[in-house]
Amino acid sequence: PNLQKFVDKLPRPKNIYLSNCTQLTLGAYKITQKLHRDLPPTPLYAFGTSATTATYPGPTLRATQSSKSYVRFENHIQDEQPMFTVDRTIQWANPKRGGVPTVTHLHGGATESASDGNPDAWYTAKGEYGPAYITQNYTYSNVQRPTALWYHDHAFGITRLNINAGLAGFYIVESPPEEKTPAWLPTKQFEVPLVIGDKQFFPNGSINFPSIGDSPKIHPNWCSEYYADTILVNGKVWPYLNVQPRKYRFRLLNAANARVFELSLSDQRLSFVKIGTDGGLLEKPQNLSTVIISPSERLDLIIDFSLVPGCQIFMNNSGAAPYPDAEPALSPVGTKSVMKFIVNNRTKYPLKNHIPIPSRLRKPDPIISVKDAYWRKAHMEEFDDTQQNPIQDLLNNLTWTQPVSFYPVVGSTEVWEFINFTPDAHPMHVHLIQFHFLNQQSFNQSLYMEGGCSLQVPFNLHTNNNNNNATTSCFTEEPQGPLPNQIGWKDTMLAFPASVTRIIIKFTTQDGRPFPFDPTLGPGYVWHCHISDHEDNDMMRPYKLVHNST
Ligand code: C2O
Ligand code: CU
Repeated sequence: PNLQKFVDKLPRPKNIYLSNCTQLTLGAYKITQKLHRDLPPTPLYAFGTSATTATYPGPTLRATQSSKSYVRFENHIQDEQPMFTVDRTIQWANPKRGGVPTVTHLHGGATESASDGNPDAWYTAKGEYGPAYITQNYTYSNVQRPTALWYHDHAFGITRLNINAGLAGFYIVESPPEEKTPAWLPTKQFEVPLVIGDKQFFPNGSINFPSIGDSPKIHPNWCSEYYADTILVNGKVWPYLNVQPRKYRFRLLNAANARVFELSLSDQRLSFVKIGTDGGLLEKPQNLSTVIISPSERLDLIIDFSLVPGCQIFMNNSGAAPYPDAEPALSPVGTKSVMKFIVNNRTKYPLKNHIPIPSRLRKPDPIISVKDAYWRKAHMEEFDDTQQNPIQDLLNNLTWTQPVSFYPVVGSTEVWEFINFTPDAHPMHVHLIQFHFLNQQSFNQSLYMEGGCSLQVPFNLHTNNNNNNATTSCFTEEPQGPLPNQIGWKDTMLAFPASVTRIIIKFTTQDGRPFPFDPTLGPGYVWHCHISDHEDNDMMRPYKLVHNST
């Protein structure tokens, strides 16, 4: 359908404040919802406290730092099978009695394993459970910096279908009330969550999710990336937002399956002041004309509309699909537009505009030393059929169901090397912790494939692997520092093709304290690519924490 842009007002998901002592029950329901003025209501799966209040995106859950919150997740989806075609040639939850398996993960949360939404901890409305199921009553400790997390479905092998069908929402960790919000930071109606993604529609309003695979003889239905033609923000197609000529805070989430957004504003006088990432505020704000956000990343941005009273401002996208090497057909013209801001001429609100954004937003993080770090390699590979159609993506040549191979020690520091042998960038996500970028280094992939060189890191980078008598190095450059989108606390990091992306992880809370729960218990944690089409076809691996035996 040919949908007119900027005719629907940006909705704001309802806030639900989680409190220390009460349990919130949130169900997954099948609903219909109007996603555009001229589109019939769209069947969706959505979170809510009841069938009639469920919405896409789900309500924004707001928790307080360091105070526990309790959410019970229920599955009320009565469908006999998932809304979009399940590819039965890839492994998936596959409940014997049918139904739609769901399990909810709090992305970026420092969460005990039993509440983490392990892909094998799914359950159906008929009461069937996956092998890792322990409970539906989840406890969140919120022992992390104030930031925007998100909750979404994580059911084994159908995560791409369930998130696309609508099972996603924001979860914001807020500072404790006794800590006054700094005056420069816009709050209340001036703090706007934006869940961005792409979808394609049939004229009857339902979502067009492809049912013919890239390599149909091998996988009849699985496609390696869902790229659609229509952009939605907070569940509306190309919406508009009326704003006052003042500063606003936008919390962005990329909830798309695969599309990486490169966002910019149509007026040269405006820029984004990026103040935070996945894991909280940056040390120093970044003034950027373009921001990059890959699937599941979050951005905390300030836009100062006082510079453009009475103007209409467009938020545009120039992100390549796939990323970074574009096939232009996958970014049709509609994907270049995201939303519109209509800036009022006069403000009705007292101007708090003139409080500048400080040049330091918080104390710097202590440097995490690589000296005693344990190093791990994570090879990322894509496998193609004889016609070069992708059929599977693997990490270290292993599937999800193969035994755990990563056992980090609680409290220890590790460097993970994402070694990308595929043609695309992948947003790599690690559950439980927030990490930092260490460095990245591109290499000569064809020379490596011929066996002519090694990817051994230079001796001086670390100490516990000094077997450096290898042949010539495949690296084509010295280790590089972070790009603007790789700075700060991260739980998801774009790893570029023909490149080693190194992250440094401390298996503690962000402030270095031990977790207030035992992370070695329960079904364990997960690391994976957050292109959900990839994680479903095996770019996902379990990991388990252990206590130091000494
Ligand atoms: Cu956003 Cu494993 O998750
Ligand atoms: Cu991927």
